[in-house]
Amino acid sequence: MKVNIITLFPEMFEGVFDTSIIGRAQKNKVVEIKCHQMRQWAWNSYGAVDDKPYGGDVGMLIRVDVIDKAIKEIKNKDSHIILTSARGKKFTQEDAERLTKEKNLIIICGHYEGFDERISELVDEEVSVGDYVLTGGEIPAMMITDAVTRLLPGVLGKDESSKIESFSLPDRHIEFPQYTRPAEYNGQKVPKVLTSGDPKKIREWQKLHQGSNSNKNSKKG
Ligand SMILES: C[S@@+](CC[C@H](N)C(=O)[O-])C[C@H]1O[C@@H](n2cnc3c(N)ncnc32)[C@H](O)[C@@H]1O
Repeated sequence: MKVNIITLFPEMFEGVFDTSIIGRAQKNKVVEIKCHQMRQWAWNSYGAVDDKPYGGDVGMLIRVDVIDKAIKEIKNKDSHIILTSARGKKFTQEDAERLTKEKNLIIICGHYEGFDERISELVDEEVSVGDYVLTGGEIPAMMITDAVTRLLPGVLGKDESSKIESFSLPDRHIEFPQYTRPAEYNGQKVPKVLTSGDPKKIREWQKLHQGSNSNKNSKKG
């Protein structure tokens, strides 16, 4: 899979994508992530990509001609284009799974006050990462890329499998509580069954203690 990210701040992605599982996925060529500096499609010789909104509102909007040029240059017949947007559909694990089928993702990161409305017509979907406003689309683009990449075949090792993680199929449960050493800490003991060595009982306990997607509590959820 190739992921193209159109952004004013490509340098923000370096640490995040160069390390850990996503860094390894790139080295193993399971995913290729390319950050494109939006200013290369600027509408003037000073590198401007935004302009004042009609109607005298505050802030600056990213221009439709800039994004249109960027898409035309990057896009191929397999591209699926995502606009990061606080008003978009909220991103879920199901969306991450759906997007693993794509060969070429293009993710557009807004900044400033947002986008010219006509940019919506150029994309396949508008995606929000939650009901709050962030400074830019860079962190949402990282979240989407990370959630999709870790589901691609060969990215997670056997010990890191995504199949038993929260929100996974068949019932999209929340993962059961897990413990490691020490077996007792500040008077809190690891449940006995987990140290019993009985795989059947352990699995039963895990099933009993996994949560449903609708009863996440504020401490764990
Ligand atoms: C400061 S925000 C613009 C917010 C916009 N004026 C509004 O009220 O919805 C700048 C950019 O950050 C990104 N962004 C902010 N919050 C987001 C969210 N919750 N999900 C996805 N993208 C977001 C979008 O690309 C947006 O264009």
